[in-house]
Amino acid sequence: MTDESPIIVALDFPNAKLTHAFLDRIRGRHCKLKVGLELFIAEGPGFVEQLTRQGHQVFLDLKLHDIPNTVASACKSAANLGAWMMTLHASGGNEMLQAAHAAMSEGDHVTKLIAVTVLTSLDQQQLHSIGMQSSAEECVIQLAKVALQAKMDGIVCSVHEAQAVRRRWGLQPMIVTPGIRLRDDNKDDQSRISTPQTANESGANYIVVGRPITQAKDPMYAMDQYLTHWASNDS
Ligand code: C5P
Repeated sequence: MTDESPIIVALDFPNAKLTHAFLDRIRGRHCKLKVGLELFIAEGPGFVEQLTRQGHQVFLDLKLHDIPNTVASACKSAANLGAWMMTLHASGGNEMLQAAHAAMSEGDHVTKLIAVTVLTSLDQQQLHSIGMQSSAEECVIQLAKVALQAKMDGIVCSVHEAQAVRRRWGLQPMIVTPGIRLRDDNKDDQSRISTPQTANESGANYIVVGRPITQAKDPMYAMDQYLTHWASNDS
C-alpha cells in the first residue's frame, strides 16, 4: 500500500542506552520508530526530540485517553516534539477526538492522529469481560466510525479487521496493525496476530513489530525477513 518501508519498530526498551545499542545494530535500515509508554516514561520528551533531530520519524504511542481538553493539550505538546504520528484511544469518544483534531488544525501541526480501536492483545473472551458484547470486528468498525467522523488520520486495529475497514472506508484512512508475527515466532502476550504478508494483503499501510525484531539475535536479518514476507505473494 506504500512505497516507503511499512515497518514501524516498537522501541520497547527500559532506557536510552539499550535503545541506542539497538539502533546501532539496525543502522542504515530504513524504518520508523515507535516510542511507547515504557521508554517515554523512563526517558521523557527530550528523548523523542533527540530521535526526531537525528532524522527519525517517531510514532509516539502514548494511547491518550482523558477528557477532551487534557487530550487536546497533550496532542499539542506531542506535536511540538516533532512526532510524525501519535495515538489516542477511539473509546475516548467523539468530543475528545474532535478536540484533538481541532488542536492540531489550529496550530498547523503535521503530526498524524491515529485512533486505537481494540488492542490486539484482547481476545473475544476478554472483550466480553469488559462489557463489549459484540465481536472484535464489530467493535473495531464502531470505534473506527467514531474516529473517522472526528477526522482522525487513521486507526490502529489488528490485521483481522483491516479488510473490513478498507471495505467500508476505502483507501483513505491510514491503517496501522500491531500483533504481527511470522508463523514460527513466539506469540508473546498478543492475541489477534497475523503475518506481514496478510497485513499487506488486508490493506494495512504499516505494521508495528516489537519483540520479534528488538529481541532477535540479528535484528537486521529479522527486519529483512519481515520486509520480504510483507512483499511476498505466496501464502
Ligand atoms: O512486541 P510486539 O510486536 O508484540 O509489540 C507490539 C507493539 O505495538 C507494542 O509496543 C504495543 O504497545 C503496540 N500496540 C499493540 N496493540 C495495539 C496498539 C499498540 O500491540 N492495539
